[in-house]
Amino acid sequence: MSGAEFLNIALPKGRLGEKVYAVFEKAGYPCPGVMDNSRKLVFENPDAGVRYFWVKPSDVAIYVERGAADLGAAGRDILLEYAPDVYELADLGLGVCRMAVAAPESFRDEPERTLRVATKFPNIARSYYADRGRDIDIIKLNGSIELAPVLGLSDVIMDIVETGTTLRENHLAVIDTVLPISARLVANKSSYRFKNREIRRLAAAVSDAITVAKAAATEAKA
Ligand code: PRP
Repeated sequence: MSGAEFLNIALPKGRLGEKVYAVFEKAGYPCPGVMDNSRKLVFENPDAGVRYFWVKPSDVAIYVERGAADLGAAGRDILLEYAPDVYELADLGLGVCRMAVAAPESFRDEPERTLRVATKFPNIARSYYADRGRDIDIIKLNGSIELAPVLGLSDVIMDIVETGTTLRENHLAVIDTVLPISARLVANKSSYRFKNREIRRLAAAVSDAITVAKAAATEAKA
């Protein structure tokens, strides 16, 4: 198989990417070495026609939009924040969490005052508060968002909540849920045209693998 026929797939580094890869593997797209704990970033399996690479979760959409990757798995948070020009092919049902506004337990809102919002997601925050006609000051941070209200840098945060542990441990509480989030399979638009058969075959196999995994999880609970 020539390089041009590979499907290039961007996986988000970390726990979510490992779960995503497990689904791709079950769907018939395994690749030796992907899960090895090494510094290597690119892995290929010519027999399955796939080349995987690990990228920072917030960069997946950029790789896919610009065609460096044909496919990728990106959280809905990233897709809404960066609004990349890509096709969303499937909800992978993984990395399920929510975007929420949270504040110290003692927080009392004063609507006439500008609200200081710390977040990694300024566009989502801007649109959420614009819909509510609320004047805000966005404080863009890159991590450990929960620290901002604790240290008085912001009044509230807008961030991902999964288990709620980080909020609890920092004496913060959710005051509003903004939107539900899960990982999505996305495709580059021109790859979707030129590698249509391969991409549709992979997307169908991945959707089947997700259905099987969901059924097994439901059965295990019963
Ligand atoms: C994310 C998010 C929260 C935390 C929520 O942070 O920004 O801090 O996970 O998870 P929980 O509800 O299960 O506690 P991440 O681990 O990505 O690190 P970051 O602080 O660098 O953003």
